[in-house]
Amino acid sequence: MTEILSGRTRIYGIIGCPVEHSFSPLMQNVAFDALKIDARYLAFSVKPEQIQQAIAGIRALNIHGVNVTVPHKSSVISCLDEISPLARLIGAVNTIKNVRGRLIGTNTDVSGFIRSLETLNFSPKHKSIALLGAGGSARAVLAGLADAGASCIFIHNRTVGRAESLVTEFSQKFPDTQLKSVSVKTILETPLDLLVNTTTVGMETDASPLDLSQCRKIKHLADLIYSPPQTRLLKQAEELGIPAINGMGMLLNQGCDAFTFWTGQPAPETVMQEQLLNLV
Ligand SMILES: NC(=O)c1ccc[n+]([C@@H]2O[C@H](COP(=O)([O-])OP(=O)(O)OC[C@H]3O[C@@H](n4cnc5c(N)ncnc54)[C@H](OP(=O)(O)O)[C@@H]3O)[C@@H](O)[C@H]2O)c1
Repeated sequence: MTEILSGRTRIYGIIGCPVEHSFSPLMQNVAFDALKIDARYLAFSVKPEQIQQAIAGIRALNIHGVNVTVPHKSSVISCLDEISPLARLIGAVNTIKNVRGRLIGTNTDVSGFIRSLETLNFSPKHKSIALLGAGGSARAVLAGLADAGASCIFIHNRTVGRAESLVTEFSQKFPDTQLKSVSVKTILETPLDLLVNTTTVGMETDASPLDLSQCRKIKHLADLIYSPPQTRLLKQAEELGIPAINGMGMLLNQGCDAFTFWTGQPAPETVMQEQLLNLV
């Protein structure tokens, strides 16, 4: 860690609520240190009703860039000067760069998730995929999979109306991918190339969103949860011999892509990954 901060030290950060448990400060600060960049990354707890003031503060204080997390990913959009086409399409920004007072938003969750599938040697093109969940992360996953050419994506969510809204919205945006809100029965009975858990089930309790032994055929599985590193769902996948990944790859990749977006330099992926693995 850089011992001396000076008037030239650049400030980056993450805004969210809650944000205290974020792994991003440790991951990004080791990256700045590894490349000897005079910068620090801090966590800023920002209440929903103060998002506009927080963004004005980024401009006023010349903060060089921030990540954006729950619950600000959508509400922040109206405060920015420019947004990448994909972030605009999905209606969510997770990274902002400050270029001489001009705030540019993008979304690295999408690329982060799609790249994490490389570990499984999995390409979404022409594949049948199911998502469990229809919350914030499901939007990035859905957009990434549809953008990468998935032929069919089923969405199952506890609150059915939320899955239906997602299908209606994204069917217009990605007309080449068939999207469907489905019951759990359909998930169990349909052969799938990939199942993605985007729910929070398995994060705080040792519960699983689905009994994989009841599924007809699942070729690959991705669980977005990274803490604990092996959820009950991932443990069952291992027992059944289904190749599977947790959310660590997505977390790392979105952080690497944000780092490059801010600095223009390739991220020191290995040190960032080591840091994350130390945390779980
Ligand atoms: N690896 C990464 O980089 C990364 C990035 C983002 C998120 N994540 C992880 O992804 C998970 C979801 O995050 P998010 O931001 O999408 O959360 P979110 O917007 O709050 O959505 C939560 C989803 O989980 C469902 N859910 C919650 N409790 C449930 C239960 N008891 N039974 C069935 N479904 C339930 C919700 O269904 P309802 O609509 O019915 O409430 C909703 O679909 C979290 O574990 C988060 O840590 C990982």
